Amino acid sequence: MFTDSQLLEKVNDYISQLTYSKSPRGLYEPIEYAMSLGGKRIRPVLMMMAYNLYRDDVDRILSQAAGIEMYHNYTLMHDDLMDKADLRRGKPTVHKKWNDNTALLSGDTMLMIAYKLMAGSGNNCEPAVMHVFSETAIQICEGQQFDMDFETRMDVNEDEYLEMIRLKTSVLLAASLKIGAILAQAPEEDSQFLYDFGMNLGVAFQLRDDLLDVYGNEKTFGKKIGGDILCNKKTYLLIQALRRGNDEQVRELKKWIEAKEFDPAEKIKSVTALYDDIDVRSLCEERIAHYTRLAEANIEKVKVKAERKQQLLGEMNKLMYREA
Ligand code: IPE
Ligand code: IPE
Ligand code: MG
Ligand code: MG
Ligand code: MG
Repeated sequence: MFTDSQLLEKVNDYISQLTYSKSPRGLYEPIEYAMSLGGKRIRPVLMMMAYNLYRDDVDRILSQAAGIEMYHNYTLMHDDLMDKADLRRGKPTVHKKWNDNTALLSGDTMLMIAYKLMAGSGNNCEPAVMHVFSETAIQICEGQQFDMDFETRMDVNEDEYLEMIRLKTSVLLAASLKIGAILAQAPEEDSQFLYDFGMNLGVAFQLRDDLLDVYGNEKTFGKKIGGDILCNKKTYLLIQALRRGNDEQVRELKKWIEAKEFDPAEKIKSVTALYDDIDVRSLCEERIAHYTRLAEANIEKVKVKAERKQQLLGEMNKLMYREA
């Protein structure tokens, strides 16, 4: 069995030998840039961990592991354009460094490169993998549309939020694990338990992302703090603050959400102060712990020896307390 750092090294080595030396440079340079900035690489590592539950020849699926990471980086490139984000992994986003059209077209190209990598090199092409991947990619677009629709709605409830983050984030973690299991020819029941594990882990992961967007450190998080507040994203924090705040606090929150002209730093500071007063942070942390426990219960059902599951459980615990 391989440890998380061994798998990460394999993934990074494989990704670094993918070349984009073709012209036009305006199309390929941003791809090179995005893929070279690192990131946690959790989706390919989870895919390989799921595969490694059953088989030891993990190098066999490096193409698919790189494919899921390429796909993830494509979603980030378009997401940053949609969220007007200037910073990613501590560096300027592609639409800032180049322009909007570049982020669109280089992103589209990454999506197709991801499909090629996912299809493998011929000897390991698996129709079931392509089916899971395509269905997942469509669900992520649905989640991203809900996320944008919610920016201008004031009545988003917790269930709607959970469905939105399941679609935009959880399904990709779940699919990574399931694809690893399919490629290892794992029993179908196990593939489903691993998928469910990814779904619950993904919810905890996005809740933590929302939390870090307000309470994180820009240096380690690599993104501008307060971006969700400026976009009026209906995060768990905002939904709970609107629900639990007293009349005056809710009035104040709504004033900031509806304000057309404001000083961005002042809006971030004031909304964060309201979150502090209403204490939505501890509510969010409690939810993260809850979904992590559900994920753990899913892993327990997978029918492989307990010691083989330690890597996945370790990854889960690491993500629960992450700062990046
Ligand atoms: C960011 O994903 C997008 C979300 C789903 C929150 P990651 O936090 O995995 O980003 P990187 O790849 O490590 O930069
Ligand atoms: C992530 O949502 C979802 C996708 C990229 C599909 P966010 O918009 O919260 O991700 P970050 O915070 O920009 O990484
Ligand atoms: Mg977004
Ligand atoms: Mg974003
Ligand atoms: Mg975010």
